[in-house]
Amino acid sequence: MSLRFPDTATFTGFNAPVRIEGEIRDLEVEGEIPSGLEGSFYRCGPDFRFPPRLGDDINHNGDGVVSAFRFEGGRVHFAMRFVRTEKYAAEDAAGRGLIGLYRNPFTDDPLLAGRDRTLANTNVVLHAGRLLAMKEDGLPYALDPVTLDTLGRCDFGGRLQSQTFTAHPKIDPETQEMIGFGYEADGLAGRQMALQVIGADGVLVREEMFEAPYVSFQHDFAVTERHIVFALMPATTSLERLKAGQTHWVFDPSLPVKVGIMPRDGSVTDLRWFSAPGRGLGHVLNAVSDGEEVRLDIFVSERCQFPFIPNADGAGFDRAASTPRLARWRFDLSANSDGFEEEVLFPDFMEMPRTDDRYQTRPYRYGWCAVIDPQRPIATAGTLGPGWNTLVRVDMAARRQDRWWVGENAACQEPQFVPRRPGAAEGDGWLLCMLTRLAPQGYGSELVILDAERIAEGPIARVRAPIRLRGAIHGNWAPRPAPEGKAA
Ligand SMILES: [Fe+2]
Repeated sequence: MSLRFPDTATFTGFNAPVRIEGEIRDLEVEGEIPSGLEGSFYRCGPDFRFPPRLGDDINHNGDGVVSAFRFEGGRVHFAMRFVRTEKYAAEDAAGRGLIGLYRNPFTDDPLLAGRDRTLANTNVVLHAGRLLAMKEDGLPYALDPVTLDTLGRCDFGGRLQSQTFTAHPKIDPETQEMIGFGYEADGLAGRQMALQVIGADGVLVREEMFEAPYVSFQHDFAVTERHIVFALMPATTSLERLKAGQTHWVFDPSLPVKVGIMPRDGSVTDLRWFSAPGRGLGHVLNAVSDGEEVRLDIFVSERCQFPFIPNADGAGFDRAASTPRLARWRFDLSANSDGFEEEVLFPDFMEMPRTDDRYQTRPYRYGWCAVIDPQRPIATAGTLGPGWNTLVRVDMAARRQDRWWVGENAACQEPQFVPRRPGAAEGDGWLLCMLTRLAPQGYGSELVILDAERIAEGPIARVRAPIRLRGAIHGNWAPRPAPEGKAA
């Protein structure tokens, strides 16, 4: 049996499957690791165990890989493992790829029928001692935080009813509750949604089901100190569409944007829905409750920002129309209206937002994002995303930006803020970010460390991986170093 990956963009160049598991002790470091930077930077993204069953594939349909950079006393160690999902196990047993199109099981090999086909390839979150690898079309998989061994699918003690759980849960910085949601909670193309609250001890304390206005691609949501905010964009699907072997999503801007807001101490029966013309929605930076106003800071584009989601009207992918910009939406809960105000905060092509997570769900001032600076070279080949060439700190109070260009033939991924010490002021700390280095200098991957308040000065240190690491999607920092284990 031959095993060969296709010569397509997803499988060649920087993106060629890596498929390595293991550990590397003492990565090469240029500069000095800041004293006090102690902990693990976990990342999650797709790689491909087998060539695609249908000849080609998109990055987001790859097997979940979780990696960890461990910072210990100025040294940096690395470990990387595939998540052993049911899909991974079924393909490993068969010796070939069984999965079909992204989120369309009707295109799978019959050997995968009835099996959990989620990929756990989008985000990795440490909560209540559990390291959870997540993708929004299924339940998380729990991993050992030290060895990265897969422990099994996580249903929070068997009490979860929803078939799905978001890859972007929010952790309340005071209560340590994890608030999540699921869409298509009742199965493929279903309209049911679920709201979940996981206590600080990791036990599901609340789950409520409700019906969405329509089936929508809801990649992110928002939580404030007092409210929960669901945001539906007009990428939709149907069983008929899936049975016909089409892509899961189609972008249909004739459908409206719907935003549902409910009090955290209320119920889904309190959901109030707001409406706006159909547009593309991206990640949420943060959201705040202020009296009777809820402010949602979210990336908005005229069309869907993902090239793999086709337009219902047949229009081709238009990068300009799909440019995400950071907008502030203001919802007046005292007004008798289903409308809301929008203000575009920055005109730039920007996404992959992070905050000082001690300020998630609370009033905040700073964010760090990836930007495309059109005045600088853009290296797109083999990157996940459009080729981010600049890191930015946004000051939401002063409405200004600080920037660092990542250099020639390089692209950055989602940044990660780490506080300098417990109790440090908001934004006082370091910014970690993976860079992909592209030809012609040779492929490579490095983790840069910047002073988060002075990113324009460039990296304090660069941690070099001796192997090429495919682009991850999201990651998170765990401040306490895990005890020494067998895998770094
Ligand atoms: Fe995301």
